[in-house]
Amino acid sequence: MNFESIREEFPALLEKTFLDAACVSIAPRSAVAAVDEFLHRAAYCPEPSATLNHIAMDELRAAARPLAAQMINAQEDEIALVESTSQGLAIASQAVPLSAGDRVLVAAPEFMEVAIPWCQLRDRAGIELAVVPHRNGKLLVDDFAALMTDRTRLVVVSSVQWSHGFRLDLAALSALCRERGVWLVVDAIQQLGAVPIDVQKIPMDFLACGGHKWLNAPFGCGFLYIRRERMSELQPPMAGYLAVETPEGGWGNYFQTPSIQPVRDYRFVEGARRYEAGGTANYPGAIGLAASLRMFLEAGQDRIAEHVWTLGEKLMAGLDTLGISVSTPRERSERAGIVTFTLGSPERNAALVEHLLARRVLVSLRYTAGIGGVRVACHLFNNDSDIGRLLEATGEFQRGTVGSPAPCP
Ligand SMILES: Cc1ncc(COP(=O)(O)O)c(C=O)c1O
Repeated sequence: MNFESIREEFPALLEKTFLDAACVSIAPRSAVAAVDEFLHRAAYCPEPSATLNHIAMDELRAAARPLAAQMINAQEDEIALVESTSQGLAIASQAVPLSAGDRVLVAAPEFMEVAIPWCQLRDRAGIELAVVPHRNGKLLVDDFAALMTDRTRLVVVSSVQWSHGFRLDLAALSALCRERGVWLVVDAIQQLGAVPIDVQKIPMDFLACGGHKWLNAPFGCGFLYIRRERMSELQPPMAGYLAVETPEGGWGNYFQTPSIQPVRDYRFVEGARRYEAGGTANYPGAIGLAASLRMFLEAGQDRIAEHVWTLGEKLMAGLDTLGISVSTPRERSERAGIVTFTLGSPERNAALVEHLLARRVLVSLRYTAGIGGVRVACHLFNNDSDIGRLLEATGEFQRGTVGSPAPCP
């Protein structure tokens, strides 16, 4: 699959310059078609019975698990399908045994959702939260180490920061956490899809990733990786039927058995599925996620990372030419697909974003902990022309030569 044919998978690009996969991305035709097919099933019940239709839907949903596992080099039974990154992080916060006085480290520039579950544990259970400072936008592993006391139990961190795209040295943080016996919970939503993560090479205890940003899936489905060798130490959450072992003969037969009773000793599945708390699920979300993951696996994650990197380089070179300050670190190991820049003041940045949006160049304005600006996401479906249009409209804004919006790309 070459990148121009990948681009054709995204019809939105015929009418706009979409550089905002870090927000809510656009879905490829294959994912939309898979969801359409599912909706046909929902409308017509193509199986001989509604029970068999339900079972078929569960199987279609399950196809996302091995694909997610392949994406990060995990085992299928280490993957739970979840609604979102937030839900994955919330599950991790409930599953790791923590007591009053235990310390959890969170970094200063994080997206709020990374902190929310632990803020609740601070208020309810008396855990202590320590905030790791950033240094000119960078998070240094030494700063995590400096805040680790003998009560430190867990680090929760985004591998790529949402507002300015700094990519952490995950390997070094993983080594530190293992050395100190500290749980490592990673939010990978701003990285996976742009730059691969291999959980065999870089061990972590949890990885949560929603589908709707860099994985280009439709809504309401992502995945949570849970490292198999740590599962015995966890407290699984309250679970529904998804986590119950399928009875002998299957669910169809089970529900037709007169003697069944709801109160009994349930056997729960082993593995990460035990952490799927729901019942009848978000089927279209999972089916769309599976289709999007297939696209990434077929295109090759390393090739995509190269493409994303090259686009980011071109964008930064163009911004340099315009004399614009880039907030994202430039080293390859320190960024993924996000490039954030600033015109010097929040007001100028906001005016530029308005100017770009009026020209159907989609980017976002994002800040946290004093860092941020105009956030651009360069992804697998973008090309040099997209970067060119962004730079041209930005240069025009800077020069004050604002004409009428350009025609559709
Ligand atoms: C780093 C990070 N984590 C979590 C989220 C929220 O993701 P979700 O909607 O999948 O919970 C975002 C969204 O902006 C994010 O940037």
